[in-house]
Amino acid sequence: MPGIGIFLFALLAAFCQPGNGNTSEERSKTRVLDLSRGAYISSEECGTCHRAIYREYSMGFGGDIEQAGTADRSIDGDSVALSSHVSNAGTGHSLAGADTFPGHAREVEMGGESCSVCHFPMYFEIPDLDRPETGRPRPRPPGREAGGVTCTGCHLTPDGKIRGPYRVEAPHETVADPRIQTSAMCAYCHSLGRRQVGKQTQTFLEWRDDFHRPGLGIQHCQDCHMPRTIRKTAEEYNVPNRAVARHIWTGGHSKQRVSGALSVVMVQPDEGKPDLQIHIINIGAGHSVPTGSTRRGLFVFAEALDDTGKILRSREWLLAPTLEDHSDTRRPPPDDTAIQQASAAGSQHESGLRAGEERILKWTPDLATGSYTVRTRLVYDLNRFNDRSLSEDQTEATVTSTRIRVR
Ligand code: HEC
Ligand code: HEC
Ligand code: HEC
Ligand code: HEC
Ligand code: HEC
Repeated sequence: MPGIGIFLFALLAAFCQPGNGNTSEERSKTRVLDLSRGAYISSEECGTCHRAIYREYSMGFGGDIEQAGTADRSIDGDSVALSSHVSNAGTGHSLAGADTFPGHAREVEMGGESCSVCHFPMYFEIPDLDRPETGRPRPRPPGREAGGVTCTGCHLTPDGKIRGPYRVEAPHETVADPRIQTSAMCAYCHSLGRRQVGKQTQTFLEWRDDFHRPGLGIQHCQDCHMPRTIRKTAEEYNVPNRAVARHIWTGGHSKQRVSGALSVVMVQPDEGKPDLQIHIINIGAGHSVPTGSTRRGLFVFAEALDDTGKILRSREWLLAPTLEDHSDTRRPPPDDTAIQQASAAGSQHESGLRAGEERILKWTPDLATGSYTVRTRLVYDLNRFNDRSLSEDQTEATVTSTRIRVR
């Protein structure tokens, strides 16, 4: 019954392509995307065909991103809240040009010099996984910064094609490049110079040197930060379902991501004695925790409570980078201020945890004979340099408690 088959196919094609009912070939002929505008093509334009990906990218659909405002009080007290024009659930990449924080930092730290080239890139060549010391992307001109890390910012090759993992028929020129599914794709912007422990923007190098090379895991950045699903990549086209990576990149603005990074175990090694060990284990990140900006910090609060829930004794630590060698930085490291602030507020400064690391913090609270609840809270702070009382930029990542007896 060939007639019915053809009829069904026509119906299906019309259903798959609402609008004008053309077949896919006709459609790609009629709507060809001219790539000669290169890096000036907005994400919104790409999003007219790649709808689900655009929704993830601009609204964090499928993630739990919350771009809370922060304040940069260590510098001049300005609030650097996000502009009201953009979704506060959008990904860091989509907001990189609208995020007032980098712009603010550029003004106060660099006298307005265009330094943030990775925040509004034109295009770049994917570097070799072993030698990421490549140049930086060319930035778009100042009037074109607002789009941030756009679709073309990652997908445009230096010769003006769109890179992706597949060999496809598309209404724009594409090139299949398997390296897009590896960490090399992220190296360009998530590493700066050679590895320097404690310096910011070292995530790729932390992954490569502490996680990948020693064999701690097979995951590349995408495996954790772009979880995949099966669907069409261009909804209105007659294209096969494929494994598609969700463009969500949850990081420090996601409770789920931050909570999955570290595990906490409390141990009382000698029965009856108030000596406690707090084991903090990096089980979830393929790099250091915290990573990225040196503003990030993790507070560890240890507390001993009586049966009414009253806190009798407490102790705190700040896990955050300490710059051991900053010879290639012209300005003094902001870490010094942070360490001073932390100790003034009663925190002991400890470096962050590398991939796979277990850290043991020791605490002997002064407790009389009796039973107590001891509790450890991990609080992730997006900007440890601002006032500690500002909680908008803090996330309680984990709370662990146990009972102890002191004799
Ligand atoms: C007119 C519709 C349309 C527009 C606009 C469009 N695309 Fe596509 N794109 C497609 C179709 C159709 C495919 C093929 C999908 C498939 O076979 O899964 C595709 C494929 C892709 C792929 C996969 C390539 C590969 O080798 O795996 C990428 C990446 C991509 N597009 C990025 C973009 C970017 C970036 C933009 C904006 C500059 C854009 N697209 C604009 C329709 C479009
Ligand atoms: C063209 C440069 C560039 C590339 C390539 C790039 N990133 Fe980013 N990424 C940035 C910038 C800039 C930010 C910070 C944006 C901000 O906070 O304003 C960022 C932020 C992030 C964040 C933090 C988001 C948050 O909410 O705190 C994650 C996670 C991330 N990137 C993962 C990745 C992964 C994984 C890749 C590789 C697939 C990648 N990035 C490739 C520039 C890039
Ligand atoms: C930070 C870099 C980055 C940005 C920005 C980005 N992509 Fe991607 N994209 C990737 C990576 C990496 C992959 C390959 C993921 C994988 O499968 O490992 C990819 C894959 C794709 C694919 C192929 C399907 C798949 O998941 O393999 C399409 C289509 C695509 N992107 C479209 C877009 C569109 C449209 C935008 C803007 C709304 C965009 N991308 C923004 C990095 C990016
Ligand atoms: C095994 C899973 C895993 C892998 C692999 C992984 N990450 Fe992460 N990533 C995490 C977790 C968990 C966090 C949250 C804890 C933290 O900030 O370290 C995170 C946080 C981040 C952040 C957030 C920083 C911020 O300030 O908001 C960035 C950026 C990032 N990762 C980039 C990358 C890049 C780039 C790669 C590859 C070189 C990568 N990640 C590989 C799990 C992973
Ligand atoms: C090599 C690429 C690159 C360059 C160059 C760069 N940045 Fe960034 N920037 C990033 C990435 C990636 C992030 C996300 C956090 C991380 O991994 O360091 C980021 C994050 C930031 C943040 C933190 C945002 C937050 O949410 O806390 C600020 C502020 C910032 N950059 C300002 C600047 C300024 C100012 C300059 C120029 C001195 C600059 N950046 C140059 C890649 C870059």
